[in-house]
Amino acid sequence: STAEAAAADYDTGGFQHFLGKEIHEQPAAILRTLSGRLDERFSTAHLGGLNLSAREARDFKRVKILGCGSAYYAGGIGAQLIEDLARIPAHAEPASEFRYRNPVIESDTLYIAVSQSGETYDTLAAVHEINRKGGTTLGVVNTVGSAIARACSGGMYLHAGPEISVTSTKSFTCTAVAFALIALHFGRVHDLSPADGRRITEALRALPEKIERILEDEEHIASLAREYAEHESLMFVGRVRGYPAAREGAQKLKELSYIHAEAYPASELKHGPLALIGPELPTLAVVPDDELLEKNLSTLGEIRARQGRILVIGHSAPDAKLAQDVILVPRSEPELDPILLGIPMQIFAYHAALALGRDIDKPRNLAKSVTVE
Ligand code: G6P
Repeated sequence: STAEAAAADYDTGGFQHFLGKEIHEQPAAILRTLSGRLDERFSTAHLGGLNLSAREARDFKRVKILGCGSAYYAGGIGAQLIEDLARIPAHAEPASEFRYRNPVIESDTLYIAVSQSGETYDTLAAVHEINRKGGTTLGVVNTVGSAIARACSGGMYLHAGPEISVTSTKSFTCTAVAFALIALHFGRVHDLSPADGRRITEALRALPEKIERILEDEEHIASLAREYAEHESLMFVGRVRGYPAAREGAQKLKELSYIHAEAYPASELKHGPLALIGPELPTLAVVPDDELLEKNLSTLGEIRARQGRILVIGHSAPDAKLAQDVILVPRSEPELDPILLGIPMQIFAYHAALALGRDIDKPRNLAKSVTVE
């Protein structure tokens, strides 16, 4: 019955924690985000809730994405997807910073607010500021009827289902999938070819099954997490598409295990943080087999030269001299890689936190949604 289904959302359903349950729910949650939205005939996405005509969708010259915490990092993946598929300049910014700097609001910029709860005060205040100045705001929100969803002129719901664990997992992944749909939609009103549109729709449909395969690797990921949890600090690196994924990976580890973690663009390592690298500071490197593979491998070489231990998350195992540890994820299309590359880092953070005896579903000092200033 509906009541039983609703009650099941508030039960760990055989898992030790809501976090584990929500990590494992991701294939089903993504299916709901995609449901009824993929158009095979025109290789695009139907997003009627955006309330934008094709003409209006074409007229935007820029996209600005706003959110806090994991919503902001998911926005970073979204910005890259929109640039990749629609070739519209897009940028993510923390909603809190944005609202305090008297932002310039432009009529040809589309503003997208991201929020799981739909109640985060800083994000809501940013939306009110944009609305007040006559800008167009869309919401990418999980909670139906929430304040942010109501304040925006359109948007899309994730349909990820209730997320109970304070640390965001399924709503992060579903937000990235929602942005893939938005990017596909905008791409197809611009110059994304039908063939490329089809490549993306097929890859989106294949995501749930690929996530299942990553979840099957949980015990291997957990054993690595237990080893790395002995360190006081971890460096996370990624390039371009891999960078927002690395940032979210570091965020998960901090929130759940309280281990210090810092994410850097791999290209920036040599401009400062390389000074920290040594046997005491291992690196978790996001290394997909894309056009930046060679660049990433040379970064691994720089880390190895300083005896830093490396865990690679990628599509193939680099030379054992470069990386001691590897977590493999299934290949997707390069634009969608960050979605899959993020999953092992959630599992990694979960098991690092378990090894350290942390309060998994309610980390210290954190709240599920911050509804005050
Ligand atoms: C809090 C939570 C984070 C979350 C952020 C934004 O800080 O602890 O996990 O990412 O708020 O929440 P929202 O509901 O707006 O996505």
